[in-house]
Amino acid sequence: MTDRYAVIGNPVHHSKSPWIHAAFAAQTGQDLSYEAVLGELDGFEGQVLAMARGGVRGLNVTLPFKERALALADRVSDRARLAGAANTLLFAAGGVSADNTDGIGLMRDLQQRLHVQLAGRRLLVIGAGGAVRGILGPLIAAAPAGIDLHNRTLERARGLAEAFSGVAGAVTLAALGAGHLARAEPYDLVINGTSASLAGELPQIPSSVFRPGAVAYDLAYRLDGPTPFLTQAQAAGAGVVADGLGMLVEQAAEAFLLWRGVRPETAPVLQALRCRAAG
Ligand code: ATR
Repeated sequence: MTDRYAVIGNPVHHSKSPWIHAAFAAQTGQDLSYEAVLGELDGFEGQVLAMARGGVRGLNVTLPFKERALALADRVSDRARLAGAANTLLFAAGGVSADNTDGIGLMRDLQQRLHVQLAGRRLLVIGAGGAVRGILGPLIAAAPAGIDLHNRTLERARGLAEAFSGVAGAVTLAALGAGHLARAEPYDLVINGTSASLAGELPQIPSSVFRPGAVAYDLAYRLDGPTPFLTQAQAAGAGVVADGLGMLVEQAAEAFLLWRGVRPETAPVLQALRCRAAG
């Protein structure tokens, strides 16, 4: 029998997940269906549990439900707890399990596809919302020399630095205001984790943050060209610029692995997704 999966979000019509998972299923020969479901802002929890009772095997969860997905689960993985959010749910006889594959998705894209070395490097992460909370744990685990956090609202960056201080170990975590950022040593890797790109906007950061040849990564992506952040990074001398489409495919592959026990090849799917967007 065909196993059923879905992505739930609001809005959800733009989601690439049904296409990505259909490609994974075709590639690995797995018998599954995957649809996009509009989440109910007032009744998300009941809707999810009804889907589980109705035979759906698992869900991907996107904005604005990731925190609520974590809260409704019976079992929560360590990485989902640290992220404070779940993007993957798995339904089994024992109840609902929640996981978060966003952080590992970013790490696989950075390390496997782009061959970025993180150990001992200086990292700057811009933003302090849910997207950044989801990636800080895996970034810390990669043992950079330090991670500076900058956010338009500095208090939120301070809150994140504080929240992750317990797991930072030897990695220096610091929240930096605009003045400090302008005087900071340039960084090896700058990650834009704000939602500014989605609105075609640019977080206000000085071009001096990019060391020559630096890696610039935008967690967001636009299918019609580079994000404003990546355009700024390139003009400032960054050597590698990448948007979040690779992370999107990698986080999906990790969810697929959790559900099906099979890891799909991501490179051809990412390439096909880009061609599809360009075409
Ligand atoms: P998400 O879960 O996607 O991270 P969020 O929790 O609403 O969403 O956080 C959005 C992040 O993008 C925040 O860091 C926000 O900065 P503030 O905390 O100051 O609001 C940041 N952001 C959004 N638009 C921005 C803009 N135009 N310039 C700079 N930062 C922006």
